[in-house]
Amino acid sequence: MDEELITKINKLQNAFSTVGQNNPVDLPQITVIGSQSSGKSSVLENIVGRDFLPRGSGIVTRRPLVLQLINTPKSSDPEQNVEYGEFLHLPGKKFTDFSEIRNEIVRETDLKTGKNAGISPLPINLTIFSPKVLTLTLVDLPGLTKVPIGDQPRDIERLIRDMIMKYITRPNAIVLAVTAANTDLANSDGLKMAREVDPEGTRTIGVLTKVDLMDKGTDVIDILAGKIIPLRLGYVPVVNRGQKDIENNKPISNALDYEKQFFENHPSYSSKSQFCGTPFLSRKLNMATTLPEIKAKVASNLLKYETELEQLGNPLEDQAGISPLPINLTIFSPKVLTLTLVDLPGLTKVP
Ligand code: GDP
Ligand code: NA
Ligand code: MG
Repeated sequence: MDEELITKINKLQNAFSTVGQNNPVDLPQITVIGSQSSGKSSVLENIVGRDFLPRGSGIVTRRPLVLQLINTPKSSDPEQNVEYGEFLHLPGKKFTDFSEIRNEIVRETDLKTGKNAGISPLPINLTIFSPKVLTLTLVDLPGLTKVPIGDQPRDIERLIRDMIMKYITRPNAIVLAVTAANTDLANSDGLKMAREVDPEGTRTIGVLTKVDLMDKGTDVIDILAGKIIPLRLGYVPVVNRGQKDIENNKPISNALDYEKQFFENHPSYSSKSQFCGTPFLSRKLNMATTLPEIKAKVASNLLKYETELEQLGNPLEDQAGISPLPINLTIFSPKVLTLTLVDLPGLTKVP
């Protein structure tokens, strides 16, 4: 993608966020879907390589989280390499402590949904600036659930479905359909929904979590080989932190090392371990976000919105100063935007 286009998209993103709109340009958004507690939030954390999302048993993710990762250029000055997050609802406040980010997500979730398991379709917008991430947009969503609990309305299943549909019907959504490997693939809620919006399977990646919890002597080899439910973009098996690891604050870097060892030493996966785990999932995502159809779509949408903005009197040039997201993205990374991913190495983890 050429630099001029990248600069334009940056400006457009800023202009739209100033007026409180979701980015209409339809940049690829990586959206995780699946049953409750299948491991969606854990997968996202591993992709980011940082520990900052609320996770756990039960319905923990109760509002959509739209997470924009911005790759900041690596500097020889360590102070310039500080990783931090900013929320759209708290403009100007830099969060350098990632556990504070988690606390803020929990607080902001409770604020709009109450504490008793309620849900809300109002997204939380978080931007993370770091030299260690690739510029990507990720969306964490509540899991599919059937039986209402706490303050949940009787039609909870439909509400969550509608919320998920809103994100995955967008043609530029890359759907990460998460299924726990110790459950039956044929019953996968995530795969079922993905198939509804992407019957050709051109933008769905299957993620198999909890491979470490499978019964001894069983594995996901037949699924990977496309013998159960074939997916054009295939499946990636992963091992995230278990509940105990989370309680013991196991660092993500240790968890990623453990995952690597697990696949390299497991008799079923050792010969294909380079196709297993979070690093391979990240590479697959990079490829998926640079699919030619998606590039073309972005270019044509951009044209459309630019024309629209021009008719509104083109606010692009002078709005950066009053954006509620006070960081002008172009300051931090004039040359990297979502579609340059293909030029970058795989996600770097915490050293
Ligand atoms: P979500 O509800 O789909 O977002 O799932 P979470 O990421 O919150 O995870 C739900 C629970 O499953 C947590 O207790 C995680 O520790 C656990 N979990 C997720 N992935 C794995 C995995 O690969 N292995 C193990 N052992 N536990 C996992
Ligand atoms: Na959960
Ligand atoms: Mg979750």
